[in-house]
Amino acid sequence: MKIFLDTASVADVAAAAETGLINGVTTNPSLIAKSGAKLDETIAQMCDLVDGPVSAEVVAQTAAAMIEEGKYFAQIAKNVCVKVPLTRDGLIACKTLSDSGIDVNVTLCFSPAQALLAAKAGARFISPFIGRIDDVGGIGLHLIREIIQIYDNYPNLETEILAASIRSPQHVVEAAKLGADVATIPPKLFNQMYQHPLTDKGLDQFMEDWNASGQELDLKSTSRKAS
Ligand code: G3P
Repeated sequence: MKIFLDTASVADVAAAAETGLINGVTTNPSLIAKSGAKLDETIAQMCDLVDGPVSAEVVAQTAAAMIEEGKYFAQIAKNVCVKVPLTRDGLIACKTLSDSGIDVNVTLCFSPAQALLAAKAGARFISPFIGRIDDVGGIGLHLIREIIQIYDNYPNLETEILAASIRSPQHVVEAAKLGADVATIPPKLFNQMYQHPLTDKGLDQFMEDWNASGQELDLKSTSRKAS
């Protein structure tokens, strides 16, 4: 499974990219607005930090204006992925941009029917928002399962399923068990994924025992090298 970071913070992308485990980034207008940073500068900096796709979301409402914004984003860097909302105009923009060789992430997906149309429009990614479905009493992961089932029936649909609106490490685990291609994860949750109290406790015990042993590791010693 690919892991994208869901953030507008360039510092958080830089820190997560150091792990070598981040395959891309997603942003949205709310995240950018909260950060106070300039959208195009943020995208350019993120594109330098990661090799994979960096989603920049259009803020226009009409297909023509979305296409114009999408083309503008696409010239910022070769790994920009244009994000469009799952509306009629968004689907038209997706088809046009995809046909011209620009990667598109179709966002705000809440139903399998929407996901089918996004794939037909040539989207590189479809972003079902699982947390927001849970928020209104649904089960977001069921949507992931249905989209996988539909896409698996039609191998010519090459759209990748990008689980978005992730609220817990367990969401990532469940999406991975179902076979989602990507999960986009807020930085805080990414850090939670590798943390476990038993790991910390176990490591403390190993270090205590090692330090009490009086041994030191001599990394310059050649005596144990394989001949
Ligand atoms: O970038 C889209 C997304 O992941 C939104 O998440 O937590 O605002 O529902 P959230």
